[in-house]
Amino acid sequence: MALLAWGLALALLGGALGQGALAPAVPTAWGDRIYPQLGQAGLDVTHYDVALRVPQPGTRTLQAEVTLTVQATRPLPLLSLDYLGPAVQGVTWNGAAVRYERAAGKLLIRRALAPGTPARVTVRLAGPAGRVPDPDLPVDLGWQALPGQGTQPGVNFTFSEPDGTRAFLPVNDHPGDPAAFTLRVTVPRGVTAAASGRQTAVQDTPQGRTFTFEQREPIPTYALAVHVGPLERVDRPAVQVGGKVVALRDYFPPGTPVNIRAPYERTGEILRLLGEWFGPYPFATYGSAVVTPPLPALETATLSTMPVTSSNVRVIVHEAAHQWFGNSVPLGDWSDTWLNEGFATYAELLWAQAQGKEEARAVLQAWRDSVQNRPTRPLVARTPAELFDRSAYVRGALALHALRGAVGDGPFRAFLQTYARTRAARPTRTADLLALARTELGPRAEGVLRTWVESPSLPPLP
Ligand code: TRP
Ligand code: ZN
Repeated sequence: MALLAWGLALALLGGALGQGALAPAVPTAWGDRIYPQLGQAGLDVTHYDVALRVPQPGTRTLQAEVTLTVQATRPLPLLSLDYLGPAVQGVTWNGAAVRYERAAGKLLIRRALAPGTPARVTVRLAGPAGRVPDPDLPVDLGWQALPGQGTQPGVNFTFSEPDGTRAFLPVNDHPGDPAAFTLRVTVPRGVTAAASGRQTAVQDTPQGRTFTFEQREPIPTYALAVHVGPLERVDRPAVQVGGKVVALRDYFPPGTPVNIRAPYERTGEILRLLGEWFGPYPFATYGSAVVTPPLPALETATLSTMPVTSSNVRVIVHEAAHQWFGNSVPLGDWSDTWLNEGFATYAELLWAQAQGKEEARAVLQAWRDSVQNRPTRPLVARTPAELFDRSAYVRGALALHALRGAVGDGPFRAFLQTYARTRAARPTRTADLLALARTELGPRAEGVLRTWVESPSLPPLP
């Protein structure tokens, strides 16, 4: 169905551009195995500068001026961004107005881009965010809106994995093209804005209050966090994580009870432990933003999005681990989500082991109970429904445990650190992990990992 619709859309798009000269030049998407329509091959967005106005928090309405710094890694006949967001009011290319078209979830700008010559493309947009239904959750991905109650202002936040960022911003919406972000979020006075990266300025303007955030290290587009609402910011003492100083801050909705807030006091301790296994923390800051809807937790970069119902240490550990695996080391293909989820789940065992033998035994037993006598699959996913299934999380974690058992703690730790360091900001696939296992740990270790990756049945439990 989706493929059929895309074929139709491409045909329409060919029509919109005029058949003939332009039709063969319709740019190829990234080539994702699960989401073949996302992204543009050969496009490298290095930076998104986003000036975002949220005039009425809690509604779907937003206004933005987005400047993308783009470069080509191969000659591109035109720029094709993923976009299902608010009405476009204008586009400029290096400052000059250009024509644009919207078709089939894309914003097309008919300007050629040659390698070695970057361009700055600015898109102005205003109106209600678009809708990108999640394949298995009952939510629209992207810009979430929770109406205010009484005199209390409403709340907005991003929840975008895998492809919801395009519901409110024009982006190269594939994790294989991670980018830096600058965000300037303007909200009515009395409302707080939070986002991925370090807060570098707060300014009062006639339109309200503008909060500026700098996310300097590249992150996947789905991992962009923006939160707006009557939030309380809690700063915590900075920690050293694998030799890097990390500033800590969390955000809570008003009236968040003490028992929901308490586990976040352990964030520093959690990062230090993870740093001992994974190496230096990849970003400048970390923390959580607590939200009230019953969603899964999401590892939004430097600021995990934590539902009240997931506010426990186990989930805090999981989302913190994703800062290394998923956010710093980005997926090269959506079929490889186990590289995110298996590693983040494995961090739960590393934490449990640091708490004591009993806790560690309980985690391993829960994993065994969860996979034994249940359907399993090779770790590379084939359908959207498999991206976040039990195999991605638990079989993925068990694969790492089997590798650790085969090589021992010292080499396993060194391997995790080499993987985190050498794959940072480089689109990574299962084959890359296997190749590294072979060079760092040898063919026998790679064989163990490969069995866990490829076997149709569940290998003997480690
Ligand atoms: N990546 C998230 C986590 O594990 C979870 C998640 C995102 C998810 N989208 C999902 C889980 C859709 C189930 C379905 O931290
Ligand atoms: Zn996860």
